Amino acid sequence: MKLKGKVIVVTGGSGLIGKAIVEFLTNEGAVCINADISLKGKESPTAMYVDINDAASIQGVIDRVTGTYGRLDGLVNNAYPKPAGYGSKSFQQTPHALWMDFVNTNLNGYYLCAYYALEKMRSLGIPGSLVNVASIYGMIAPDFSLYEGTEMNFPGEYTVVKGGIINFTKYLAAVYGPSGIRVNSVSPGGIANNQHPEFVKRYSKKVMMGRMGEANEVASCISFLLSDDASYISAHNLVIDGGLSAA
Ligand SMILES: NC(=O)c1ccc[n+]([C@@H]2O[C@H](COP(=O)([O-])OP(=O)(O)OC[C@H]3O[C@@H](n4cnc5c(N)ncnc54)[C@H](O)[C@@H]3O)[C@@H](O)[C@H]2O)c1
Repeated sequence: MKLKGKVIVVTGGSGLIGKAIVEFLTNEGAVCINADISLKGKESPTAMYVDINDAASIQGVIDRVTGTYGRLDGLVNNAYPKPAGYGSKSFQQTPHALWMDFVNTNLNGYYLCAYYALEKMRSLGIPGSLVNVASIYGMIAPDFSLYEGTEMNFPGEYTVVKGGIINFTKYLAAVYGPSGIRVNSVSPGGIANNQHPEFVKRYSKKVMMGRMGEANEVASCISFLLSDDASYISAHNLVIDGGLSAA
């Protein structure tokens, strides 16, 4: 129960990794609020509709959470907006509008959520913790041979967003450190999700541990960064990839 008494918002908490984060944080004793665009009309005190590209919607969630629970100790920026056609085309064939839409919705969406959560923590005098979900592909280039013969591709716009989030995390840590607020990122590698068997085989071969990651292995690291066990960790990018990016 490392998060007992803490109130934490997870954006995109209905997705693959988000679900695991919400479950893990709840099991650690947190009041964990899933804030997701899929929750329109299905809201509860721990499930709220949010569009991370709509400042009023984010501010509304943060205000409702602090109004209901009296505090905000953490936010996990995890949502993953995917414009139509995303991920299906090569770099050369990706329409400019799709590229710009993805960069805008993802990078600026994380900015807006960070802004409202951090400003609320600061104004309430809470030494909170923000975790941004980045990726190893914000650190290293993809190996395109992994995708040969599958329908999978690796979108360049994703690398722009995740690289940006890793450094934005350090900037935010510098801005909010004097208020006792910590800001970190996590960079997961590939997470198992019924991908093409050939891809899984090739990808696993590249990993020191010989396998893909599991969503709960990301969730446990995020829980650590949100907990008081990480009280002197800020501006860090925690890599969760079984060793892949170190080789
Ligand atoms: N799956 C992986 O292998 C992997 C690896 C490394 C990093 N990541 C990162 O982990 C995070 C979660 O990825 P995932 O695979 O669980 O994604 P996912 O697609 O399974 O879930 C994303 C969630 O975000 C929500 N969402 C989309 N647009 C939104 C918006 N505008 N406002 C609020 N919510 C919105 C969706 O409804 C969904 O519930 C992302 O940041 C992703 O880049 C994923």
